[in-house]
Parts: sequence; structure tokens; C-alpha cells
Amino acid sequence: MSDKKRETFGSKLGLVMATAGSALGLGNIYRFPCEAGANGGAAFLIVYLVMALLVGMPLMLAEFTIGRRSRSNAVGSFRKLSGEGKISIFNFQFSIWPLVGYLGVLCAFLILAFYTTVAGWTLGYLGKSAADHFSGQDLASIQQQFGDFTSHPWLPIVCQLAFLVLTAVVVMRGVKDGIERCSKILMPMLLVIMVVLCIKSLTLSGAGEGLRFFFKPDFSKITGRVILSALGQSFFSLSIGIGALITYGSYISRKDNMVSSAVGVALADTLVAVLAGVIIFPAAFSFGIKPEAGAALAFTTLPMVFQQMTGGYFFCLIFFLLLVIATLTSTISLLEVIVAALTEELRLSRTKAARVGAAATAVVGVLATMSFRPGSPLHIGASTVFDLLDHATALYMMPIGGLLIVLFVGWKMKRADVMAELTNDGALHAGIRKSIYFIIRYIAPVAIAVIFVSQMLMR
Ligand code: TRP
Repeated sequence: MSDKKRETFGSKLGLVMATAGSALGLGNIYRFPCEAGANGGAAFLIVYLVMALLVGMPLMLAEFTIGRRSRSNAVGSFRKLSGEGKISIFNFQFSIWPLVGYLGVLCAFLILAFYTTVAGWTLGYLGKSAADHFSGQDLASIQQQFGDFTSHPWLPIVCQLAFLVLTAVVVMRGVKDGIERCSKILMPMLLVIMVVLCIKSLTLSGAGEGLRFFFKPDFSKITGRVILSALGQSFFSLSIGIGALITYGSYISRKDNMVSSAVGVALADTLVAVLAGVIIFPAAFSFGIKPEAGAALAFTTLPMVFQQMTGGYFFCLIFFLLLVIATLTSTISLLEVIVAALTEELRLSRTKAARVGAAATAVVGVLATMSFRPGSPLHIGASTVFDLLDHATALYMMPIGGLLIVLFVGWKMKRADVMAELTNDGALHAGIRKSIYFIIRYIAPVAIAVIFVSQMLMR
């Protein structure tokens, strides 16, 4: 398994920053408050924390293990590591495990399609904040602006396509230059500005009610659906279940400590999601925005907070700029899953693969964006195309992908090989890594299977 031809991250900080860049994004600042608001606030938060710790973190390590061991993309890694085990149908032979990788690539494509819808909004909101659309506006006007923007016939589409082009350009430049450099400087800045926002939000009148909603659990609200949503959200937020971290894992150098990196990223990711909740819920309750407001929640609450702050114009501008960048480091990791698979499996050039991936995403993505227009025919049943893509990936494909990945590492790979990866060939202390292996082998698969199957049966 030589590292010669493939790129690796330049440093451990590079790995942590790129993985954190992938994890931190709209999942934390937009989707987490949205899901928590719709699923009972504190009750959701508690289940979410358990899922992130018990299933999320071990799964991150399972993906890193596959990636670094195989030095290959999400599809090729399974082919390399699964060895024999081919099945033949009509004389056509294929192995089963690489299908997990293909599922991941498909999933990355579907996520990227609806993710760039919201990514486009962040770009639009960056423009709006530069043009000072929020200062002195009341709630009704800010809500109206969200509706007008998202249902505009072409503006959100242009923003989405611009975002996709931006993503493709960075991915074409390759892992080290593009991804690593971008994440290193800007993620810590985002954290700082969020802490400032947090303080402002907590000092608004009526903030207490929002805090209670977010931190005081009503256990009767924990249903099977809430648990599945929390599982899906933890996968989404940590970028797991589709092979994104297999792909990044394949760029980890032999010397890096994967366990401490995964723990660090998972903690940072959780911290940012909780911070987002502490910013959004007190402010939402203070302004009279319903926690179930869904897509509008973050995009109405945040401008309201800014326009109440001294220096709000600049904070708003910087915040949306950082949000765009945090989002970009996430879309990069999604496109990278597709590009790594296309370059190594189909031997396309990096540039061509990025173009093909982005173009295909644009087609489905534009449908997701257009489905927000009121009265749009882009509904299937009661759901918009956007919601459908979101649910299909977070509630079905990612849990299935995640389950298969932990089963692969826990039961298909040799224990000695997995432990060699986790301990850097014995150089690192094995104690806690044995527990991680135990969780990967027994606890995580049972937890995912029980949650997923029981939810399917209850339908
Ligand atoms: N985790 C990112 C967020 O929270 C979204 C994301 C990026 C992602 N890459 C991923 C989700 C891979 C699942 C898989 O915004």
C-alpha cells in the first residue's frame, strides 16, 4: 500500500481542519436548529448528543480506517479491502461491498443537490447584507424578504449555480491546496463570531423561554421518529455514512493520530451546533418566530439579531461571509467523494470529473431550488423535491450506509488490521482504541439497526 502517487494532507492540522471544514456547515447552523425546533427542542438535543457520541464518533473512525488502509476512494476502498467474495448473476461477476461505495457516491450527489440550494441562499444573503437590506426592518419585512428571495424565479438558481462553480473550482485544484488552506484560517474565525452572537442573543428580552425550550427536556417528546431524526442529523452533521471520510481518510498520513482527530472534530462540530441553538432559540422566542418555522428559522432569526446589534451591519456581513466559506468547505467534501470515485474508477481527469459531477448536481439541484416556489408542481405527495432529497438521504441512505460501513470494519476486516490503523501499528496506546473497536463491532450496528428497523416497521 504505497502512499507515493496519491496526495496526503500536509499535516495533522490539515487533516483536522479539512475534516472539521467538511463537518461544519449548514448542517450545524441551518439544519440542526431546524430539526431541533421541529422535534421538541431539548428532547432532540439529548438524543442527538447520545447519537453523536455513541454512533457518530466511532463511525468517523471506521471511515478513516477504511480510507487510510486502502488509500482509495469510497468505491475502490471496498474493492481493495474486501478481497474475494464475488457473486455472479447471469455470468456477470461483481463483488458486493463496492456497492456500499456506489451508494455513498449517489448519496453525496443527492445531498449536494439540495445542499447547494441553501448554499445559494447564503450567497444571496451575503449580497443582501452587503446591500444593507436588514437594518431597521421589522419581523414582517424580514420574513417577507425570505419568502421573496427563495421563491424568486431565477435569483436563487443563479446563486446556487455560482456556488457549484465555486466548489468545482476549488476541487479541481486538488486536496492539499484547495481544501486544506481554505479551512485552516476561517473555521476558528467563525467560532469567534458565533460566541459574540450567542452573548447578544442571550441578552435579548424573553430569551429565557428559548433557553428553556432548548435545554429543558420534555421526555414524553422522544418518539421513534425523533430518535431516527437525531441519528440522521448526527450523520449529516459529522459528514458520515456516505464515504466522505473514507475519501478524506485516504489522504491521512501514516503518522497522524486518527482517534484524537476524530474526537476533536466531533466535539467541535457538536459545540458549533449547540452554539447555533443557543443563538437561534432565545432570539426566535424573543422575536416571536416559531421554532417549527423550518427553512425560514435561521434565515429570519439571524438577520433579526443583527439588526438589533450595534455594528450589526458589519457583524452580519462577516457572519454571512464566514457561513459561505463554512458551507463551501462542506460542498467541497461532497463533490470530492464524487470526483475521487470518478478519477480513480473511471480514470477521468480531476478537471473533467469535477465538471461532470457539478453539472449533474446542477440538474437535480435546480429542481430542488425551484420546488420552494409556492404552487410549484415540483412536489411528490405532500413533500417538495427539496424535502424528499433531504429525507431520502438523512433518514434512509445515510443510516443504511453507516450500518454497512461499521459492519464492514467490525466484521469483514481483520481485527488486527483495524487495530493497526487505530494504533498506528502499535505506536499509540491501545486501551481506549479497544473500546472503540468494541463499539464499532457491536454497539453501533445494533443501535443503527434497531432505530432504523423499528422506525420502518412503525410506519
Ligand atoms: N456535514 C456537513 C454539514 O453539517 C454537510 C456535509 C458535508 C456532509 N459533507 C458531507 C453530510 C458528507 C454528509 C456526508 O453541513
